[in-house]
Amino acid sequence: MPATAIPRLLDHYRQTARELPWRTPPGSNEPADPYNVWLSEIMLQQTTVATVTPRYRRFLERWPTIDDLAAAPLEAVLAEWAGLGYYARARNLHACARKVAAMGGFPTNETGLRALPGIGEYTAAAIAAIAFGEQATVVDTNVERIVARLHAIDRPIKDTRPQIRALAADLFADGPSGDIAQALMDLGATICRPTAPRCDACPLAGVCKAYASGTPEAFPPKLARTAKPERHGTAWIIEQDRNIFLVRRPASGLLGGMAALPGTDWRDGEPLQAPLPAVRHVFTHFALTLQIESRDAVPDDIDGWWQPIDRLEEAGLPTLYAKAVAVWRASEREPSLIA
Ligand code: ADE
Repeated sequence: MPATAIPRLLDHYRQTARELPWRTPPGSNEPADPYNVWLSEIMLQQTTVATVTPRYRRFLERWPTIDDLAAAPLEAVLAEWAGLGYYARARNLHACARKVAAMGGFPTNETGLRALPGIGEYTAAAIAAIAFGEQATVVDTNVERIVARLHAIDRPIKDTRPQIRALAADLFADGPSGDIAQALMDLGATICRPTAPRCDACPLAGVCKAYASGTPEAFPPKLARTAKPERHGTAWIIEQDRNIFLVRRPASGLLGGMAALPGTDWRDGEPLQAPLPAVRHVFTHFALTLQIESRDAVPDDIDGWWQPIDRLEEAGLPTLYAKAVAVWRASEREPSLIA
């Protein structure tokens, strides 16, 4: 990569950086708060900037410091995370806050950060670079795509990770790593997008082999999507006096520790033909059709609590169950909606 590439990228970043609430302006001497950087990086794993921004603000209003978060009950943190998905993030966030509070602050280098719950290679590098000004190679899916295009790597990312990492290390070699990382994140989100890249606006177009090829979008080659397995189950709505009976899912595993509707296990295969309303939800490893059945009484063998319908949002139902309740309410108002 020519020596001018990174200065050009940083110039462009200084002129166009997105204003994001966890960010200090490019080139600023004011260090970013590690708690803010950590929280934003965990929220931004798998979730878009647009979704994260208001949720990040609300979270910090509720728990302004890591000590506040460490003192919170896990159930409150899970409920606050409701709708963001990938709830292991929230469980790890809480465990991490307790460790960091006990340590008196975040470790300031990648090795120390990697030892904390929920902090993997990418997140450790991002926090070390952005919050502590450490030299680090920060590689997320945006950076992988940008590097694959700069070098016109024509094999799928999953087969070329070591090569991409080594090439990314060159981009970060002379720092400042925090600004380079955030410049690349902005470039990946707004210019070097997965589809329809805006090469006319790209500060790196002059050194980009994918651009020179005339078909930048073809890099890196995309793998054909494989269909996800289907599962089905039934959720029970048990309503009494404007309360709905809720349960808590087992502490680990899918939707671990989250509030939920009671119901059957989820089984492989297509749903049963039944005249019930249903919601569909696509998880990472399977697609679920959840049928919704009204029941009069709580089965003997389940523990749970009665949640007032008017304060359902306080329970922090994950999206699957929030959708199920919304569909049930619509079907109560309009029984003909039932399939
Ligand atoms: N995606 C992941 N981390 C990010 C950050 N710090 N800024 C913008 N987008 C991001």
